[in-house]
Amino acid sequence: MGLQLPESPGEVGRILGTVVPQPGLRLRVPCTRPLPQLKPGASGWGGGERRQGRGAFPGRIGAKEVAGKGIHLVPHPGPLAMASASGHLAEVQCRVAELHRGTDPEQQRRFYDGWAPQYEQDVGVLQYQAPKLAAACLASVFRGPPEDAVVLDVACGTGLVAQELHAKGFRHFHGVDGSPGMLELARQKGLYQELKQCLLGRGSLPAPEDYYDAVVIVGALSEGQVPAEVFLELLRVTKPRGYLCLTTRSNKSNLRYKAHLERLLDDLERRRLCEKVAVQEVADWEKATSEEESLEGSDSIPGTVYLYRKPAGTSKG
Ligand SMILES: C[S@@+](CC[C@H](N)C(=O)[O-])C[C@H]1O[C@@H](n2cnc3c(N)ncnc32)[C@H](O)[C@@H]1O
Repeated sequence: MGLQLPESPGEVGRILGTVVPQPGLRLRVPCTRPLPQLKPGASGWGGGERRQGRGAFPGRIGAKEVAGKGIHLVPHPGPLAMASASGHLAEVQCRVAELHRGTDPEQQRRFYDGWAPQYEQDVGVLQYQAPKLAAACLASVFRGPPEDAVVLDVACGTGLVAQELHAKGFRHFHGVDGSPGMLELARQKGLYQELKQCLLGRGSLPAPEDYYDAVVIVGALSEGQVPAEVFLELLRVTKPRGYLCLTTRSNKSNLRYKAHLERLLDDLERRRLCEKVAVQEVADWEKATSEEESLEGSDSIPGTVYLYRKPAGTSKG
């Protein structure tokens, strides 16, 4: 089949066989890679498209602890990936590749509003591990009863991080996100006591200083999404001795952002405004959305989980 170029998101849905409700959003560059033919019954989840060799079985997590304390990862895809068996990898790759091309915050918000109903199924198809990995990382070092902790989930999306943390015993969640569509789905999970719409990177977080026992930001620190400098705001709202857990992708197109984020974190650590607790480099973070982004011999891209602590007796970053 020759590649048809969609003129609107609705067109993408028609061509790919899925309805993608994204009112108002116009694709700047349509997906330009030919869509692989799926074998009957193949879903992209352990289906006919998967290559053999490294990362060939579902949910394999190639995690390496670089610094910090005993973090144990469970090599299982979890309900997130399993729930996605009906999705098609090629469709999702096109949608996410489009997201990665956007830079304008308003365009991003519209994109996420439109993507929200499909988001969890799609990230399941991509075998997106970040919420599970971040929750495991935070829970493994958190001191004190998790049920007493108040967690701020920044760029909370549909609430996957709170869901993972809830499974680890955390019970109190506040969430912020720029997309009302994503926030509405988070609200429906019934896990958050507070949810606020907020464009990150523009001004302060709508949260008090030195308040949260833990602050997490997962899947949002990357080129074109949330600026790395938001970490200063995350520090401000974290209690002294509280934790900050963040993730970023380590694929080619995000390396400049990642280096910038790490320079910022190193600088703050040198100034004793935060302390590194652990950094995990994860080989199979999620499925690549383009051939160029995949690791050699794999169809996955790598990512990183960072865990920091705010030292006692500090406040503003
Ligand atoms: C990939 S999703 C991750 C959601 C959730 N943390 C997860 O891991 O499933 C990224 C989220 O960041 C939000 N986001 C991206 N850029 C933002 C910005 N500048 N301000 C506020 N939210 C933003 C999007 O609305 C979206 O919900």
